[in-house]
Amino acid sequence: MAQSNKSSKDRLTAILLAAGKGTRMNTNLPKVLHPVAGVPMISRTMEAVKNAGANEVRVVVGFGSDLVQNVVKPMEGICFKQEAQKGTADAVKSAQPETIEGVVIILNGDHPLLREEDIKKIVSEFENNSHDLCVVTSKLKKPKSFGRIVRHNGFLKAIVEAKDASHETLKINEVNTGIYITHAEILNKNLSKIEPNNAQNEYYLTDIVSVLSDEGKSVGCIEAPSRVSFGVNTQAELAKATQLTFLKKAKDLMDEGVIVLDPNNIYIEDSVKVGMGAVLYPGVYLRGNTQVGSYSVIEPNCFIYNSQIAPGVVIKAMSHLEDSVVLLKAQVGPYARLRPGSQVGEEARIGNFVELKNVKFGKGSKAGHLSYLGDAEIGENVNIGCGTITCNYAADKKKYKTIIGDNTFVGSDSQFVAPISVGKNVVIGSGSTITKDVPDGSLAVARSKQFVKENYKPKSPDDTKDS
Ligand code: UD1
Ligand code: CA
Repeated sequence: MAQSNKSSKDRLTAILLAAGKGTRMNTNLPKVLHPVAGVPMISRTMEAVKNAGANEVRVVVGFGSDLVQNVVKPMEGICFKQEAQKGTADAVKSAQPETIEGVVIILNGDHPLLREEDIKKIVSEFENNSHDLCVVTSKLKKPKSFGRIVRHNGFLKAIVEAKDASHETLKINEVNTGIYITHAEILNKNLSKIEPNNAQNEYYLTDIVSVLSDEGKSVGCIEAPSRVSFGVNTQAELAKATQLTFLKKAKDLMDEGVIVLDPNNIYIEDSVKVGMGAVLYPGVYLRGNTQVGSYSVIEPNCFIYNSQIAPGVVIKAMSHLEDSVVLLKAQVGPYARLRPGSQVGEEARIGNFVELKNVKFGKGSKAGHLSYLGDAEIGENVNIGCGTITCNYAADKKKYKTIIGDNTFVGSDSQFVAPISVGKNVVIGSGSTITKDVPDGSLAVARSKQFVKENYKPKSPDDTKDS
């Protein structure tokens, strides 16, 4: 074993095995594309290996290869197709290891709990020992279907698949996590020596251990936490992985001073940022590029996607926000809906059953109840009465804009037929259907006049019909 191979400057190439269908998932989606807490499993592994310093990531694709490539290529993964699934050793061969130099780490694409820090530790342990190949192992209470680590006088001798193991071997609780680290030339010299001598008639990568130890090469183990061995093969395991990932995020946020009422019942994707002192009630789901500012409160069962919530904001229960911005100290909800392009100004209030779409809603303005505001610009300190509607969608199937100036008071149950512009300091009488622009400082009322006939008594049943 040439010691020069251990230089920390060695190039690191990762090979991710992801050709399997994942039959037990019972879906048509390739297994590695199933999302764990909103991110495909394969993307999680790709990100972890890249952040751990891999210079190149080769992904072995097979079932649903086009779909897998769509996800992997934008992350700079290089795809290699395995034509037929003849086992994990054959999968590694498909990645053309003969064109690799330096250190190679081989991983399964279905171990989503693996972290960057785990990979860094594996690489540095390998660089600091003198083994030709190391298998990453975990000790499990229930080793179930994992390959068992068979030792002789304490030294790694072989990996025996559960399907091929004797009763005695099955009792071993040290298992193969499916991660291997070695030098490209060791891999290339020995991969072709693996034979399909097993119950499945497959080329097992695990057999590289016995091939190398038969040749007098040095093989060792690197022990990793049990999460590294957590593989997803069923929907139940996928749900468990998601649950553990959300729990970890909740714990990380609590460490940063976020107040989480029930860490087992909160769903925050890794990409989300939450400021210190924010309060998150149970059932909150925060997705994508969402940010929640310090001391904001998100009440139960709110769903917030790609939205920016400034500090000191209150999002009341059951609200749904997407691609929106809520500025300092504003209040939204309960039961509010902010659709893409909405911006709620500082200290503004959006109340129950109010829907906004592509609206700039000014500082200090209020829309307390039951309104639809779409494609609008609402100034500062405007009062939008209950039941107000901007009629933005016309019979020509085009969208038109409503502009309402600062300090304007809109009486309840008013409609604005866009395109329309209402000035500043305007009063709109309740129940108006506004179809013409209204200049600054005016009163506009657009409704039929009330008709009152005093001391009225219906003469006959026919009279009542018209009254
Ligand atoms: C494998 C190991 C086992 C280990 C376990 C850890 C072998 C023979 N066994 O078992 O010792 O405990 O992982 O999870 O390696 N794949 C391909 N092409 C193939 C076959 C598999 O790309 O021809 C991919 C799969 O998509 C998957 C990975 O390799 O990502 C592992 O294959 P899988 O069939 O799940 O192996 P296990 O039975 O879990
Ligand atoms: Ca597996």
